[in-house]
Formats: sequence, structure tokens, C-alpha cells
Amino acid sequence: MDSQLCNKPILKNYWYAVARTVDLHSAPVAVRVLGEDYVLWRAADATVRAAADRCPHRESPLSPGAVVDGCLQCPYHGWRFDHTGRCVAVPSAAEGTAIPPKAHLSNVAACERYGLVWLCPGEPVADVVHLAVDDDPAFRRINTPVEVWKVSAGRMVDNFCDVSHFPFVHTGTFGRAQDTLVGRVDLGPLDSGFFGYSYEVDAANRSLGSMVSGQDDSVVHRKMSTGFSLPFTVRSTIAYHSGLQHI
Ligand code: FES
Repeated sequence: MDSQLCNKPILKNYWYAVARTVDLHSAPVAVRVLGEDYVLWRAADATVRAAADRCPHRESPLSPGAVVDGCLQCPYHGWRFDHTGRCVAVPSAAEGTAIPPKAHLSNVAACERYGLVWLCPGEPVADVVHLAVDDDPAFRRINTPVEVWKVSAGRMVDNFCDVSHFPFVHTGTFGRAQDTLVGRVDLGPLDSGFFGYSYEVDAANRSLGSMVSGQDDSVVHRKMSTGFSLPFTVRSTIAYHSGLQHI
């Protein structure tokens, strides 16, 4: 995420999706949020934990280390940290040696939701965004691969909420070059705390599109909405005549 955003302290108090749950196995994972490096690991109680990716001892990155008995182990001198960040082992020290408070990590908030790991670097001002359909058995959750875009998060949100580029950028899939005019857009609250707008569009339905839409017609009508939840979460909805919905 763009390090230029770091000078906005309020941004630290929101949740960011930083990894997929399936990518967090037995090894720690390095992530970057608002220009800061963090390490994720799965603790002994199976919860995901996060802390600055910097050992309190000699400031080695912790992410190249290991998870041993649910503790994060530094790769440099092997200090171990439990799920709370407390240093519980210093291999070079004789048994019974007191471990000073400054040897402990300061964990940051982390949780799992929607098959993703979320991290909040500061004090969360709200819960992770709510997607009710995730609990609806009529829907199937699909976690797509992660893509890295060399662009600021704000510009990504702008792109996801922008329909006027469809006929020019998405010509190989659902874009139709003849539909360039964008009608009136009424911005406002959507459900579940999202803010955005609804619209309807005739979308091209080429081979991949027909696989997704489940319809054979060369053009399909879509009722859509797009909206964001602060600071950088975007939700798009698509409803087809067939009743199929993509959220
Ligand atoms: Fe981490 Fe020494 S730098 S244990």
C-alpha cells in the first residue's frame, strides 16, 4: 500500500485485508500496510497474530523466521514470542534468567474474515466490513488470486467505482464499445454500510463472460451497484435476469 498515505494517522485505525487465509500455513508471512512492515503468524490457539516485522533484540526481520510450537521464532538468535507477543524463550540465556519487558513484541490487531487475513495497525474505529452473503448458503465464496497493482489504494478504489472505462478497457470481456454514455449517477448509502450507486448496463457476454453469467446471449443485461467502505474496501454487485448474483 502506498507509503505516501502514512502521514494520515486516521488511516491506521481501519482494517486492511493483507493476505489470504490459505496462504498462512506453518511459516510466518511478511505484509506491508501504510508503508510499515508486519509479520503474521498462526499461534498455538490457531488464531492469526500480527506484529511489527522487527525483533526487539537486534531488529532482525521476524518474517524469515519460523513458527515453533505456536510461537514466532526469530531467525537471528532464536528468541520466541507467544500469541500475545510476550518473549518466552531466549536460547542464549541460562534457565531462570528473567526476561525484561522490552524483549516483548507489541502485537497489532489481526483477524480472519471472508477467507482473508485483516490487520489494523492502530486502534480499530469499526469492525471489519460486513458482507452478509458470506453466511448465506445460497452463495459460494470464491477467493481469487492476489494481484499487485503499482498504483495507490485510492486510485484503485476510483477505478473500481468507475463505469465509464468499461467500453474502452474491458473490450475483451464484458465491455461494449458502443456504450460510452454514462447516465445520471445518484451517490448515496447502499446496504451494509457501503456508499456508492446503482446502475444498469448491457454487457458483452463473450466466452468467459457466458461462463460467468450462465447465459448464451451475446449481450446480457446486468443490474449493478458499486460502493466503498472506508477507507479502501469496494463491493460490486451484479444481478442477471436469470437470478444469478455476483457480489
Ligand atoms: Fe531476534 Fe536476536 S535479533 S533474537
